Amino acid sequence: MYKILEKKELAMNEIMYKVHAPHIAKKVQPGQFVIMRAFENGERIPLTPVTWDREEGWITLITFIRGRTTLRMNMELNEGDYILNIAGPLGNPAPMKKFGKILAVGLITGIVEVFPIARAWQELGNEVITLHVSPNPMVLLREEFESAVSKHIVEGFDLKEGWGMDEITQEIVKRAAKKVKELIEEEKPDFVFTVGPAGGQKMIFNIVKEYGIPMESDLHPIMVDGTGMCGACRVHVGGEVKFACIDGPGFDAYKVDWDELIHRSGFYSDKEKLALEVYLKKLQAQGGAQ
Ligand SMILES: Cc1cc2nc3c(=O)[nH]c(=O)nc-3n(C[C@H](O)[C@H](O)[C@H](O)COP(=O)(O)OP(=O)(O)OC[C@H]3O[C@@H](n4cnc5c(N)ncnc54)[C@H](O)[C@@H]3O)c2cc1C
Ligand code: FES
Repeated sequence: MYKILEKKELAMNEIMYKVHAPHIAKKVQPGQFVIMRAFENGERIPLTPVTWDREEGWITLITFIRGRTTLRMNMELNEGDYILNIAGPLGNPAPMKKFGKILAVGLITGIVEVFPIARAWQELGNEVITLHVSPNPMVLLREEFESAVSKHIVEGFDLKEGWGMDEITQEIVKRAAKKVKELIEEEKPDFVFTVGPAGGQKMIFNIVKEYGIPMESDLHPIMVDGTGMCGACRVHVGGEVKFACIDGPGFDAYKVDWDELIHRSGFYSDKEKLALEVYLKKLQAQGGAQ
């Protein structure tokens, strides 16, 4: 059982949980993730330790409230409560080497995964420029980035009435495309790194490849066990089958089969929608949601 030491809403729908998890805090490296199950009858979801203290034995996780599990965590877990199970650290650490000038891009909540990696790259002597493309109410970690990397750029925008996730994602993709191109022209990075929805990462890749700049992307296929056994996170990379949980999550963007990844990411959207609706109905019945 993992005690929640602190819980805070950092930005709209972006919740930080500081969790007592000494065995993870002791070993985790930038780029790795955990798989957690918050509730007895709940699903397992991958999340990224954003900061940690090896001595004090805690990690922070930041969730974007997207669907049933992240909403349920926010509704039912508070400071002093316990997360049932956290497995990790899982996956491979990000490559820690001197690239020179790095452009690291986080789309929406992808920025939380960029943070530990970008900070470590900067500490290694790279010049790191980070770009966060996000709706303004969801911009987070701005001060933390400003003190950790050479330059932090926020490409924010206001939300319009009636926008759902699709409209937000389209706006992000549009803005990220423009800004990444500008930054490549101005800053001439030696290496590009991205985290975010697969469609957005593919679009950034299409720009980066015009310039022939090496690029790595953290991939987010559906993950279940996180140990290479279930096959849920299967992706084709360089024509070979890889499991993002044990072979990734970072891969050479030039080798990723982006279209397959995008297609597979939407496999469960009907079930995810239904699970959220059922939970919202339950909350309404209890008088906890409108
Ligand atoms: C390596 C990795 C690290 C991640 N780190 C973070 C993080 O630090 N913070 C954060 O907010 N999110 C992170 N995610 C995404 C996070 O796992 C999903 O947002 C979460 O599972 C949503 O669950 P839900 O029930 O709230 O939403 P749902 O409605 O069930 O799903 C919403 C969307 O989340 C994604 N998703 C759902 N279940 C899974 C799953 N089991 N595995 C992977 N993706 C899933 C899918 O794209 C889905 O369409 C990470 C994903 C991966 C693969
Ligand atoms: S999550 Fe099961 S094989 Fe990767």
